[in-house]
Amino acid sequence: MREDVLDRLVEKLSLEQKVRLLTGSTTWRTAAEQAIALREMVCSDGPAGVRGEAWDERRTSALLPSASALGAAWDERLLADLGGLLASEAVLKGVDIVLAPNLNLHRSPLGGRHFECFSEDPELTARTGAALIRGIQDRGVAATAKHFVANDSETDRLHADVRVSERALREVYLAPFEAAVEAGVWLVMAGYNSVDGTTMTAHPLLSEPLKGEWGFDGVAVSDWAAVRTTEEPARAALDLAMPGPRSPWATDLVRAVGDGRVAEAAIDDKVRRLLRLAARVGAFEERRRPHPAVRAGEARQLLRRAVAAGAVLARNEDVLPFDIGTLSTVAVIGEHAASPRVQGGGSAGVFPSAVVTPLAGIRARLRGRSRVVYAPGPTVTVPPPPLDTDRCTDPRSGEPGVLLRCLDAEGRELYAERRLSGRQLEPGEVPGAHTVEISALLRPETTGTWTFGVGGFGRMTLSVDGRTVLDGTYPCETDDPAIVHVTPPLRTVRVLLDRKRPVLLVARRELASGTGRATVLAAAPPERDPAAALAEAVDAARGADAVIIVVGTTEHSETEGYDRTDLSLGRLQDDLVRAVAAANPRTVAVVNSGGPVELPWRGEVGALLLAWFPGQEAGAGLADVLFGRSEPGGRLPTTWAASLADAPVTRTRPVDGRLDYAEGLHIGYRAWLREAREPAYWFGHGLGYTTWEYEHVDAPARIGIGDTFTVRVTLRNTGRRPGREVVQVYLARPESTVERPARWLAGYAAVHADAEGTVTAEVVVTPRALRHWSSEEQTWRTEPGPYRLMVGRSAGAMEWEAPLIAAGPVLDGTGDRRAGSPLPVDRA
Ligand code: BGC
Repeated sequence: MREDVLDRLVEKLSLEQKVRLLTGSTTWRTAAEQAIALREMVCSDGPAGVRGEAWDERRTSALLPSASALGAAWDERLLADLGGLLASEAVLKGVDIVLAPNLNLHRSPLGGRHFECFSEDPELTARTGAALIRGIQDRGVAATAKHFVANDSETDRLHADVRVSERALREVYLAPFEAAVEAGVWLVMAGYNSVDGTTMTAHPLLSEPLKGEWGFDGVAVSDWAAVRTTEEPARAALDLAMPGPRSPWATDLVRAVGDGRVAEAAIDDKVRRLLRLAARVGAFEERRRPHPAVRAGEARQLLRRAVAAGAVLARNEDVLPFDIGTLSTVAVIGEHAASPRVQGGGSAGVFPSAVVTPLAGIRARLRGRSRVVYAPGPTVTVPPPPLDTDRCTDPRSGEPGVLLRCLDAEGRELYAERRLSGRQLEPGEVPGAHTVEISALLRPETTGTWTFGVGGFGRMTLSVDGRTVLDGTYPCETDDPAIVHVTPPLRTVRVLLDRKRPVLLVARRELASGTGRATVLAAAPPERDPAAALAEAVDAARGADAVIIVVGTTEHSETEGYDRTDLSLGRLQDDLVRAVAAANPRTVAVVNSGGPVELPWRGEVGALLLAWFPGQEAGAGLADVLFGRSEPGGRLPTTWAASLADAPVTRTRPVDGRLDYAEGLHIGYRAWLREAREPAYWFGHGLGYTTWEYEHVDAPARIGIGDTFTVRVTLRNTGRRPGREVVQVYLARPESTVERPARWLAGYAAVHADAEGTVTAEVVVTPRALRHWSSEEQTWRTEPGPYRLMVGRSAGAMEWEAPLIAAGPVLDGTGDRRAGSPLPVDRA
């Protein structure tokens, strides 16, 4: 739609009509306006998948691997394809705006939403995010770059005031957003947090650099309920307050314009942006635009490919890939093998239609060829998971699942329905509802002490066969919507059950105001005796030709709304890996976590595969990797510490409300290098299934300031399989007049070659890589003079290094070329 047409539409609207457009009409919808034939636009979270408007386990969505896995892929084409899948899911669900990607950084390994962000590095995050944005928007669905900016941890996330230098903001935290704007992103979401004393929804950064210097012409939307006042965010460049209809804007904003506290021109600009977005997503059109859906089979193949593409092989003592022909018995060990964590917790959660567990994936691959023995090992899943269709039936119909009822104040039934999950996030939306009830007939498969949990806020009760075992009132002490409505804490009780006797569970929660939407009924069977479970696993390992042990984080440790307190997998899992690895050297440990964890036994296992939260095709993709159908394509997007105590930047807890980014530019590998500390695994590390010889590097020795140049790296695949290598180019400036990271990623390129094949990677380095932000001059500067140009296989392992001079413009456009053979320098 042309700009003058947009102007005319704005002119048609009264102030009231315009302001009404600037607040959501519901939790997920923007307002419609008949006068200009504008329909509502529908938002849905991402990036794990597109849930749609309902938190309903029956409305399933394709579930992608976590963003940390996608960052590990270093593969923009894959990201664009996944963006296409998200867009096609969005179209299917009537969604116009996907609230993804999350471009915050892995500043601390403790960050609760670490899994939802791509990387610790601004360049990798920028390129990965931009590729996903293009993939989504190429299909006419809007993407949202969030959370602008420095919203990198969860503790006190609604109010934390991040203190960060202007240089670090520009060079590190804003850089991925700048790239998103360059990629043409249609929305940017302002975070809950403050930066240097101003809340992000009212922050001058929304004007400069976002809308001014970068030329962002889309909509600056608030994070959900992040607008807390009327004038400040309206005067700052925030455009859209979500959700609605209640909002500090609405009539108060009309009044503020009437009083001259907010200029009407500012309102017009916001509305024009909203209408531009509407035109982009087709919200002025009578019918939704048709978009060819990705077929279910194709989607599954893509998601399966993504599991392998992001899996990082951190160590391999000639164990992987397994040759199926040599395996008569394979032991699969660990609770996560049968109950993997496929996604992180919080607002981005979706309901996949089915999950291929690692155990199922391995069994499918080995069917008819090898015997698979499964031993879960000691129990690790605490707190208990929500009831599902496995061992529960609806007491009314007898069908698998639970019975969900809404009752009025007298206990009369207003509504009843069989559901598939004990976690219900929207049942209170029934007029007159006073109490939500979830009940189920549970068939205990084991005799012993079961753990039951009810989740939510307000008055809650739980009865087992009519006996009340929990009755309490649990006030809501936070206003964080992710905790209030999505992941409220569970209150647990333990009850002795007999295997032969089904029991009726009834959980009730009263719907007082301010108690949120979530009601959860959860159950866990008796814990296995740790010593016996360990012995069983060790026996299974000893009798097998190969062992795959899957360990990981537990249900509540990686989630929005909270930061982690440690990186440990727990003693039981650590002991299990150690004992199993000691029993069988052909043990592969698969780590199922969204972010870094401590692996004190990493030197004891035959191979170590970091699988992240792999999404719905977890087991299919992992089996591809384990048995050699696919190469583990991942390279770490984040440095993994051997222990939390070693990590240079960890603090996420504000002090007196302030979270000081005292490390400045030095996060991630930059901090490790500066402090000369050795992590367990560096940013960029990942082995794949073949070996490479870096044979030759062709790079300019001299460039003009402002030039883009190419580093050509010729590599030979010296292994026995085809493979993919991610060639990484770093820069350093040892004698800089300004503070610099020890080195920083300047560019990368992935190449493929057959066994014995030679290939040349062309890594393009843009002028952006050399520049620094000058706070004095308020502009970007590039220091002339010597830099070091490096080619590495990770941030800690350089293969080649040479000087690079940045000078005035180079006449022939190419500069003097420096060709060189690898000279091993700085090997870490
Ligand atoms: C999260 C956002 C999310 C929004 C809507 C917020 O609490 O921070 O990432 O898009 O909720 O679910």
